[in-house]
Amino acid sequence: MANLTTQIHRLKLQNPVMTASGTFGYGEEFADFVDLNRLGAIIVKGTTSTEREGNPYPRMAETASGMLNSVGLQNKGIDYFIHDIWPRLKKYKIPFIVNVSGSTIEEYVETAEKLNSIEELPAIELNISCPNVKEGGMAFGTSCTAAAKVTKSVRDIYHKTLIVKLSPNVTDITEIARAVEGAGADAVSLINTLLGMAIDANSRKPLLSTITGGLSGPAIKPIALRMVWQVFQAIKIPIIGIGGIMNATDAIEFLLAGASAIEVGTANFIDPTITSKIIDGINDYCERNHFTSVKDLVGALIIPEQTVDMNIS
Ligand SMILES: Cc1cc2nc3c(=O)[nH]c(=O)nc-3n(C[C@H](O)[C@H](O)[C@H](O)COP(=O)(O)O)c2cc1C
Repeated sequence: MANLTTQIHRLKLQNPVMTASGTFGYGEEFADFVDLNRLGAIIVKGTTSTEREGNPYPRMAETASGMLNSVGLQNKGIDYFIHDIWPRLKKYKIPFIVNVSGSTIEEYVETAEKLNSIEELPAIELNISCPNVKEGGMAFGTSCTAAAKVTKSVRDIYHKTLIVKLSPNVTDITEIARAVEGAGADAVSLINTLLGMAIDANSRKPLLSTITGGLSGPAIKPIALRMVWQVFQAIKIPIIGIGGIMNATDAIEFLLAGASAIEVGTANFIDPTITSKIIDGINDYCERNHFTSVKDLVGALIIPEQTVDMNIS
């Protein structure tokens, strides 16, 4: 067995495989399929300060090598999580990380403050892809100023591991990564879904009620890998890689590009046991390639000497 342990700031993980928010419920829904205690951590669905109904149906559509969703943060709010869900999750031996979402900075702060007081919950993941309603609806994560402001406001009241989840719907993700690092994030996770659209030519209507939605799955993997690699050059805090990870080889590619851990999203809908297979596959890869520790894979990409770093295609 290779040493699969990894660390995200103060958060110690038994292996680098986590579940991506919104694709694995609260974890317990998958307990019949996969031994939850094997996972690195579970990131629960987006949680807001008050209950949200989400967007009208249809809010999911299949696309080539991916899917579009506009679920819209449907959840029962942080108090429901703390009083009704968390007591059931405590029996598992792995870390649970709450994905914190909001429409205003005050909402993020309110939710994070409540989670700060629950000792056994070691980290939060701040979803900054949400629209900022007080500032015209542009997502917090698409401007350095707004991303830094929400991160700093949460940092001031949240004293455990603060992961900020970056939006890929920006021109230069390294600027946003630097802004949240400067505002006190302990780690970044990337990427959230890419804004996309699907149309039914016969009815001449969009496939989603919201017209546009978030694209996930294998279609986004090359973009996610590129962004992880770029962010790895730009910041010093740990990176969690997300986007189209369908198997262990995909996960290893993210580690090589600079991620210290990874999250599996859409793949859980296709194979609910995939996280367990990815853990085994990472171990096999380490053994086959004589890596005694998974940490040695992080950023171990080999760049051939003649490679030119250029942005023109
Ligand atoms: C149905 C669905 C719901 C999601 N809900 C959330 C959410 O609540 N918060 C969040 O930060 N990301 C959410 N995401 C984004 C995923 O966590 C992940 O970043 C994205 O799907 C890319 O990874 P993948 O290609 O492995 O699915 C959601 C994705 C899907 C498909």
